[in-house]
Parts: sequence; C-alpha cells; structure tokens
Amino acid sequence: MDLPPEFLELYARLDRQGPGVPDDVLWATGRLGLAGPLRVCDEGCGTGADCATLAACLPEARIEGVDAMPAFVEAAETRLEAVPNVSVRTGDMGALEGPFDLIWSAGAIYFLGVIEGLRAWREALAPGGAVAFSQGVLPEGEVPQAVRDFWSAEPDITDQDGLLAQVEAAGYAVIDTRWLTATPWAAYYDSLEREIAALRPGASAAMTEVLDGAAREIALWRQAPEQIAYLLVLARPR
Ligand SMILES: C[S@@+](CC[C@H](N)C(=O)[O-])C[C@H]1O[C@@H](n2cnc3c(N)ncnc32)[C@H](O)[C@@H]1O
Repeated sequence: MDLPPEFLELYARLDRQGPGVPDDVLWATGRLGLAGPLRVCDEGCGTGADCATLAACLPEARIEGVDAMPAFVEAAETRLEAVPNVSVRTGDMGALEGPFDLIWSAGAIYFLGVIEGLRAWREALAPGGAVAFSQGVLPEGEVPQAVRDFWSAEPDITDQDGLLAQVEAAGYAVIDTRWLTATPWAAYYDSLEREIAALRPGASAAMTEVLDGAAREIALWRQAPEQIAYLLVLARPR
C-alpha cells in the first residue's frame, strides 16, 4: 500500500481507523465462549484499539496485532506499552503464522478479499479456532442512492446474504452475525472530524486534499447513517 504521509499523519492520530466499539469485541468473545490462555491475532489492527479491548477481556490470552503501516504500529506500541499481554508488529495479514484460537479483524479483510482472506487465515487457525471480522454490507431490499454513493469506491460490496455466501465458499460455517450501524460509525467519524479540524490551520496543499477527502466521506455517511453498515461475522472452518 502506497499511502501519502499526510494520510498516515491524519489517521495515526485516531483512536481507531474504522467503525467499531469495545462492545463488538465483548460480544464476539462472549458469543464464542473464549477464556483462558489463548493465542489471538488482531489482523489489520491499526493503532490498536481492539488489541486493548481484547487484552482486557481475555487477560490470560496473548494478543498479537499485525498491521502493514509502520506509522499505525508505532502508535499502537505507544498506546499499549503498559499492557503486558499484547505485542504489535508490522506485517502482512495475508501471511500469518499461527496457530491462533481467534483471528479478529475489524474493517480490514476487504484489503485481501473476503474469500481469499478467510482461506489464508484458515491455515493459521488452531483446531477449534474461529474468525471474527467486520465488513461493509449493503442494506436489505432497495438500496438508497446515498448508500450507493457512500460505497462507490467498493464495487464488490454485497448484502448480508452475499457476504455469508462468501464465508461459506471459503469453507467456513457461520456461527453468528451482528449489524454495526450508527453508534460505532459515529464514534469513528466524530473523532476523525475532530482531527480534521485540528490539522486544518496552516495545512499544506497535500494535507488539505487529504482532509477534504475525509470530510467528504463523513458528509456522505451523514446522509444515511442507519443504512450504512458493517456486518460482524463469527465463523469457524467446516
Ligand atoms: C480500516 S483500517 C481498520 C483498522 C483497525 N482494525 C480498526 O478498526 O481501527 C484497515 C487496516 O488494515 C491495514 N491493512 C491493510 N492491508 C493490510 C495487510 N495486507 N496486512 C496488514 N494490514 C493491512 C491498514 O493499514 C489499516 O490499518
């Protein structure tokens, strides 16, 4: 991934780089009945928000965050330095070495492709291990234009049935799903909006372009916050 330094500067300041709240992690680990000395990977961990939650709710587990962007890994390391059961490294989430009892991944699998990513992760799962990932989905029924506009850069986006068919095609059985709308997105975009405002004064032309792009994304989301969704999917290899 070749991202401009201005993009990294903006997003490395954020608590997280995509929609999500700690309750998503708590729901997933509770629903999967996870406890004890497990090995857990957070794929595409960004600045480590979910590593922190995983470490707190699974205190006997070892949490390993992986992200392709050194700037995000550095921010994650700083934020997590006092947390004993977490380590974070720069790496490729398509080339994992397990075995992991849980592979968690919020808003990142689309970089690999859902089927490709799940197939790659299957090799890194311990027997009985599970994946928990969130991915953008279209709402049921007729899709409003505002939702299509928001997802216009994601031509392969599908609806819940389409996503779950991909999970099955990758050789997994779906355990449960949870819709993420409104609140987890507001948490993310409110923090992004604050950082946009903080960086505006005296911003270079390149930074202004990045800030304008981020502000456009927020404005598109505000047109349909109840219908712009991630689906959090829990699944195990069949
Ligand atoms: C939308 S962000 C989500 C970050 C984090 N999971 C969160 O929810 O805050 C997607 C993350 O995936 C990372 N990423 C993309 N492709 C990757 C790859 N091949 N290997 C590792 N990380 C990758 C990006 O650097 C980015 O931090």
